[in-house]
Amino acid sequence: MITLRFFAALLAVAGIGSAASSKRGLCFTPNEAHPDDNHVWVKSGSDLKWYYNYQGLPSPAYSPLSQDDFEYIPMMWGVGSNPNDTAFYDQVKKLVDDGTKVKHVLGFNEPDGPADQGGSNIKPKDAAQAWVANFEPLGKMGIKLGLPACTGSPGGLPWLKQFLGNCSELVSTGGDKKNCTWGFLPVHWYDNFAGLASHIGERKATWPDAEIWVTEYAYAHQGLAPSQEFYNQSIDYFEKLDYIGRYAYFGAFRASKANVGSNAAMLSNGGKLTDIGSWYLGFSATGVTPQSGKGAMTVPSVVLVGAGVSVGLAVNLF
Ligand SMILES: *[C@@H]1O[C@H](CO)[C@@H](O)[C@H](O)[C@H]1NC(C)=O
Ligand SMILES: *[C@@H]1O[C@H](CO)[C@@H](O)[C@H](O)[C@H]1NC(C)=O
Ligand SMILES: *[C@@H]1O[C@H](CO)[C@@H](O)[C@H](O)[C@H]1NC(C)=O
Ligand SMILES: *[C@@H]1O[C@H](CO)[C@@H](O)[C@H](O)[C@H]1NC(C)=O
Repeated sequence: MITLRFFAALLAVAGIGSAASSKRGLCFTPNEAHPDDNHVWVKSGSDLKWYYNYQGLPSPAYSPLSQDDFEYIPMMWGVGSNPNDTAFYDQVKKLVDDGTKVKHVLGFNEPDGPADQGGSNIKPKDAAQAWVANFEPLGKMGIKLGLPACTGSPGGLPWLKQFLGNCSELVSTGGDKKNCTWGFLPVHWYDNFAGLASHIGERKATWPDAEIWVTEYAYAHQGLAPSQEFYNQSIDYFEKLDYIGRYAYFGAFRASKANVGSNAAMLSNGGKLTDIGSWYLGFSATGVTPQSGKGAMTVPSVVLVGAGVSVGLAVNLF
């Protein structure tokens, strides 16, 4: 078994690498054409401590790693035709029963967004039903629950409020008003830094005690300098604020595959770490430009992961 902790300890002794962040994770979007790219994110000394893959089961690429080394966080991506279906709960319960230390789970991916932009497009009422069927029992097992991650659009906040209102109605009995259980609030953002800070500020104004996780973010479709400047600013911000629990940069793919613009990518066309990619892992700049190496720019695409679950790589910029 590979232990990242062991490598991290070695590096600490040797005094190399920057201060490790316990907040930093991988938003994993595997590239079937280049399975070797999967190893980049967990190479020795990498700062990445956790990952999610838009599914309820760990990725085979990381199955040799323990939860202590690289924490897997299951997600219920969307809701099928029966919102009472408990397949996600059953899956996570089985992981736990089989010995995986599941500490966190993530709610629906962009439920306020349309399917053609990668959203799971769920009515708050149906999402609330699915939450009660799947997440409430996981909460009772001591697992921390991440609310649905809405898009950065103005519709996100109203969706979340309706969802929580609907959920509260489902769990309240008689005159006794209850809220659904949640532990942290994930957000997504694809515009500039001022917008990111104000988006997070709006969430904090609504739920002052909330722990925020930024589970997808990048400054989409920009030049290299603004992309890097945004990257630096946002990382400093996330590290400084105690109420930012975790974050996952949306860029773990080759520039040629990026639907957020090639300059946001952590790998070049040729599969080498770009400056942003290397910084994110805790290493120094590589000087590798995103456009270097083989591989022509391709049209943004939606990848298929798992059994008929379409994962939203498309981005809602509004
Ligand atoms: C889901 O369960 C609730 C009761 O908890 C019920 O009212 C509702 O009709 C069910 N929905 C479906 C689609 O089975
Ligand atoms: C439940 O959600 C619907 C939209 O699906 C919304 O119109 C309604 O106001 C919500 N109910 C509560 C109590 O928030
Ligand atoms: C439910 O949540 C709302 C909004 O966060 C809060 O104002 C209210 O006090 C909560 N109610 C209960 C019973 O916890
Ligand atoms: C970003 O930060 C790195 C150090 O982590 C620094 O070398 C680089 O110049 C910074 N770039 C910008 C645009 O701020």
